[in-house]
Amino acid sequence: MFKINENYLKLPGSYLFSNIAKKVAAHTEANPDKSIIRLGIGDVTQPLAPAIIEALHGAVDEMAHAETFHGYAPDLGYEFLRSAMAKNDYEARGCDIKPEEIFISDGAKGDSGNIQEIFAQDNKIAVCDPVYPVYVDTNVMAGRTGTYDPEKEVWSDVIYMPCTAENDFVPELPKEVPDLIYLCFPNNPTGSAITKDQLQVWVDYANKNGSVIIYDAAYEAYISEENVPHTIFECEGARTCAIELRSFSKNAGFTGVRLGATVIPKDLKCNGVMLHSLWARRHGTKYNGAPYIVQKAGLAVYSEEGKAQLKDQIAYYMRNAKTIYDGLKAAGYTVYGGVNSPYVWMKTPDAMTSWDFFDYLLENAGVVGTPGSGFGPSGEGYFRLTAFGTYENTAKAVERIKSL
Ligand SMILES: Cc1ncc(COP(=O)(O)O)c(C=O)c1O
Repeated sequence: MFKINENYLKLPGSYLFSNIAKKVAAHTEANPDKSIIRLGIGDVTQPLAPAIIEALHGAVDEMAHAETFHGYAPDLGYEFLRSAMAKNDYEARGCDIKPEEIFISDGAKGDSGNIQEIFAQDNKIAVCDPVYPVYVDTNVMAGRTGTYDPEKEVWSDVIYMPCTAENDFVPELPKEVPDLIYLCFPNNPTGSAITKDQLQVWVDYANKNGSVIIYDAAYEAYISEENVPHTIFECEGARTCAIELRSFSKNAGFTGVRLGATVIPKDLKCNGVMLHSLWARRHGTKYNGAPYIVQKAGLAVYSEEGKAQLKDQIAYYMRNAKTIYDGLKAAGYTVYGGVNSPYVWMKTPDAMTSWDFFDYLLENAGVVGTPGSGFGPSGEGYFRLTAFGTYENTAKAVERIKSL
């Protein structure tokens, strides 16, 4: 008789977005005339930039002719895209990352979930609390997290690093030394950023203790402040302790196109074994590459035209973020994020729980956000609004909240 991977049974139900969907559906049924504005899920709404559309069309036409047709992509991704990333994302920032240290993929979600496979079963992970749930859940599936305490909503073998207003949403170094440290900045869900000096402390800590930092830079394009690093490789010594995850979803609207990358420097080694070699082996065995068409679209992100158009797209979303941030602040709420990130993280008023505030906002303003507690116990008492809606809807939502 076959057996299943019982680790999957340990996963607590993912109530967050299904709960939200259920509540919104019930509200709509009871109030068919009331309009709802969704600022909950972090998905983009603006169309792909013209330069990207043009590149997609061009690549589709290439696929129509034997001379320019492309089959399987190279394991690491096409050289043209890896070189463009190395030049624009790293060299331009003074970082030493070679094209051959970049692995093209179909997005940061898969990579952030799969990367744990190249590490031993008994590695201990540390995550921020609240956190993007993929990091923990994929380690649960791999059997690395111990037992779940449903009361406290924590795993026995995971080191949680609370990120709250008290520490400016930047975690403190954990007392118990983790093997793998997941960091994401600018952060989902708190919208907070880390300064280069603060990140350097983490890089030094990881190098000193033999830990690896898995750094999720999915929101790097939203950074507006000078002292905030766009990549962990801006920090000295990161080549020997860090893996970086990149995504084209939020900087270029590829959530439905799918493209990302994982960067593993060849200096990152465990007893002389390069993690790069392990990931190359994994990638070559389990993954057959992001489509040529999509990688060509990715290249357009780095063209002069593409860069200018995407700058405008980011500015559009950041105008939304500012509208939410300023509007809520003017209405007397305590708000965070929204400056280097498309997420605004607010304190729920009057000590309401995250879910109580969700219900209140849905009922009275017809606005849907995300309860902070859904991202971890330290998210209780907070609420997330995203800047990825249209400007019109965002402004309307803020007006509704202000008039409560
Ligand atoms: C922190 C973080 N990492 C990764 C992802 C997923 O990125 P991708 O669309 O490239 O898979 C998201 C998506 O919301 C995210 O918030």
